[in-house]
Amino acid sequence: IWISPPFVNLYIMTPLHGLAVALLAFTGGWILCRADVGDFTPCLQFFYNSWPPKGLAGTPVCQRFCNQYHFATLYNRQRRSPWFSAYLYSVPTGKRPKASWKFEPQLAYPAADGNMIPFPPGPVDQNVVESQAVELDYINSTYTRGHLNPSLHHQSHEDRASTFTLTNVVPQKAGSNDGPWEVLEQTINETLAAYCLGEAYIVTGIIPYQQDEPWLHNRVAVPEYLWSAYCCPNYNNSLPQELQEAFPTYAAIGRNDRNSTEEIVPVDKTAKKEFMGYDVRQMPLATLEMYLKDRFGTLVSVFYEQCTGSV
Ligand SMILES: *[C@@H]1O[C@H](CO)[C@@H](O)[C@H](O)[C@H]1NC(C)=O
Ligand SMILES: *[C@@H]1O[C@H](CO)[C@@H](O)[C@H](O)[C@H]1NC(C)=O
Ligand SMILES: *[C@@H]1O[C@H](CO)[C@@H](O)[C@H](O)[C@H]1NC(C)=O
Ligand SMILES: *[C@@H]1O[C@H](CO)[C@@H](O)[C@H](O)[C@H]1NC(C)=O
Repeated sequence: IWISPPFVNLYIMTPLHGLAVALLAFTGGWILCRADVGDFTPCLQFFYNSWPPKGLAGTPVCQRFCNQYHFATLYNRQRRSPWFSAYLYSVPTGKRPKASWKFEPQLAYPAADGNMIPFPPGPVDQNVVESQAVELDYINSTYTRGHLNPSLHHQSHEDRASTFTLTNVVPQKAGSNDGPWEVLEQTINETLAAYCLGEAYIVTGIIPYQQDEPWLHNRVAVPEYLWSAYCCPNYNNSLPQELQEAFPTYAAIGRNDRNSTEEIVPVDKTAKKEFMGYDVRQMPLATLEMYLKDRFGTLVSVFYEQCTGSV
């Protein structure tokens, strides 16, 4: 179907130069552009053994920013939020960039350029609003913007800036995002920086509610849990006692709702009040996959051969 977009020129700020650049979002000449939405083929490098997780259905998005791929996301159009994001860890340096939130034009216009672009000031194109979450969904809600691929797991400025796209974000309670989930991200950072010798592949996703799922404005589905797992096949064998189980794989599930039952993740009643009920439970990859199978009703495999195969 041929859709002609109302926006032709979109002005973006390049983070490197701060220059306003006129970006042709859609002209006849761009039609041959390789699609970034609908196919993981251009960004298989973000998956261990080029093997995206199996068992979850959604819209693949190769997350392109400044003409480079930075990570991959499996997006769900109905939920207007991702199932997971997959990325390569690199030891971070520098500060978190000032958030400039972006969207994925190809979700609204399949023939648009594949680079993510910052939301314009003022009203957002209606097809963009229909096709994905927008800033208004989160503003004044009781949920924060929870990165699946977090800015703090990356070294380069562009890798970091590229995580600020709403297709990489789910509604996350502040008690999780600023509490136990952030601690998890920092723990993974310290562990991988210290003992992972080669690539570390990380996949972070969500577990939906079984019933009575909350939504933001009837548009964006809120997850009950977040999960994360990494695969670091090449690591330092002289691990301290407490990290013996942390390689080559490791996984965790975090609560996003204080009222959830404690079957998957128990609650520490001694935690600080603002973080109580948002616990994160560390577990082996196989245990995570068991919970995913339970909730999704199908076998979910996060890494090729559980990250144990030699490739
Ligand atoms: C958010 O809430 C504040 C304070 O109630 C209000 O001034 C502002 O207009 C609201 N913003 C939006 C986008 O609803
Ligand atoms: C991540 O780990 C590196 C290496 O240990 C450290 O220098 C850095 O401060 C850590 N960053 C965060 C945000 O924890
Ligand atoms: C492995 O870890 C040990 C103990 O922390 C350290 O002494 C050694 O230098 C590390 N080896 C490599 C290759 O990083
Ligand atoms: C948890 O349950 C209480 C009591 O039923 C309710 O008031 C509150 O809104 C619930 N919290 C969430 C995050 O759903």
